Amino acid sequence: MRILILGGSQFLGRAIAAHACANGHDVTCAARGLAGPIAAGSRLIRIDRDVADGLAPLAGETFDAVVDVSRHPGQVRRAVAALKRPGMHWTFVSTISVYADNRIPGQRADTAPLREPMIEDVEHSADAIYGAAKVACEQAVGTDAFICRAGLIAGPEDPTGRFAYWPARLARGGEVLAPGAPDDAVQFIDVRDLAQWIVHAAEVGLTGIYDGIGPVRTRGEFLTECASALNSACTFTWVDRAFLEAHDVRRWAGPRSLPMWLPLPDFAGFLTRDTSPAREAGLTSRPVAATVRDTFDWLRAGNGPVIGLTRDDEKDVLAAWHAGMTS
Ligand SMILES: NC(=O)c1ccc[n+]([C@@H]2O[C@H](COP(=O)([O-])OP(=O)(O)OC[C@H]3O[C@@H](n4cnc5c(N)ncnc54)[C@H](OP(=O)(O)O)[C@@H]3O)[C@@H](O)[C@H]2O)c1
Repeated sequence: MRILILGGSQFLGRAIAAHACANGHDVTCAARGLAGPIAAGSRLIRIDRDVADGLAPLAGETFDAVVDVSRHPGQVRRAVAALKRPGMHWTFVSTISVYADNRIPGQRADTAPLREPMIEDVEHSADAIYGAAKVACEQAVGTDAFICRAGLIAGPEDPTGRFAYWPARLARGGEVLAPGAPDDAVQFIDVRDLAQWIVHAAEVGLTGIYDGIGPVRTRGEFLTECASALNSACTFTWVDRAFLEAHDVRRWAGPRSLPMWLPLPDFAGFLTRDTSPAREAGLTSRPVAATVRDTFDWLRAGNGPVIGLTRDDEKDVLAAWHAGMTS
C-alpha cells in the first residue's frame, strides 16, 4: 500500500512508518522535518500545516491510506479537504483525553461521553483543551475513518521522559517512593504495539472508534515487573495522595512528578479503560518486561529524556514520610 503519515518525524509517527516499511509498504512522511528524523526506508515530503496552502507539496501524490497525528482541528480539516478520497483508508490518532468523565472505571470507547469540541486552533497546554481539540479533530475526519484514541504511550524514543522515569529509577535499586497503593490501576501501550495495530487497521480496512491502550494491571504488579525485568533489588514505600500533594509531588508527568501517577478517585477511570473491542480488532500487547528493557537500553545508549522527581527530591520526600511515621 502507499501510506502517507501526516507527521512521522516523532515517536509514534516514526514507529508507524518503521512498521509500515517493515511490512513492505511504500511510506511517505509529511512534516516540516523539525521534530526529528523519519524512519529508514520512508521518504519525507516537507509540508507546513500551519499555513493555508501548506499541503501543496503533496499535490499530485496518491495514497491508499493516510495516518494523521495532529492535535489542531484546522490542520485536520485542511488535510481532509485536500487529501481524503473515496476508498482511501484514513486513520486519525486521537487520545483518551477526549472523554468527559475520568472518574468511572471500565468505560468503553463506543459509549463513554465526550468533552465538548473546541474547534478553534489554540495552544493546548491544559489537558482539557487538548482533549476538546481532539474531539473537534475526530469530528472533522468523518465516520468512515479509523479513530484510535491512544492512552499513555511508552517505549523507546518517547520525548516526554514519562514512562522512562520508572526503568531509570528502578534500575538504581534501593528504596523507591511509590505513589498511592499497590492495588491502584496502571494502563499504557508500547509504541510499537500501537504502531503495528495502526498499520494493521490500514491493511484490513478497519474503521470505527477504539481506545488504543494495553491491559489494566496494578501499580504493584507494574513496579515489580519493572524491577524484575532489570534484575534490580528494590523495596517500595507506598505513600498516599494527601502526603504527596502536601509535599508538592506532582501527578502524571513533568518535573517533580511521579510519572503515570494520577490521584484517586478523580482519575479512577483514566487508566482503567475497557479495551476488549480493540483486542478483538487485532491490538496485541507485548509483556511489560520487553517495554521496560527496551526503554532502559535506549536510555543507556545515551538517549533521553527522563523526567520526574529527582534523586534528591525523592530522598527528601521519603525522609519526611519516615519522620512522620515515627513522630
Ligand atoms: N504520547 C502519549 O502518551 C500520547 C497519549 C495519547 C495520545 N497521543 C497522541 O498520539 C500521537 C503521537 O504522535 P507522535 O508521537 O508522532 O507525536 P506528535 O507530537 O503528535 O508529532 C507531531 C508530528 O506532526 C509534525 N508537525 C507538527 N507541526 C507541524 C506542522 N505545522 N506542519 C507539518 N507537520 C507538523 C511533527 O513534525 P515536524 O515538527 O518535523 O513538522 C511531528 O512529526 C498524537 O496524536 C498524540 O495526540 C499521545
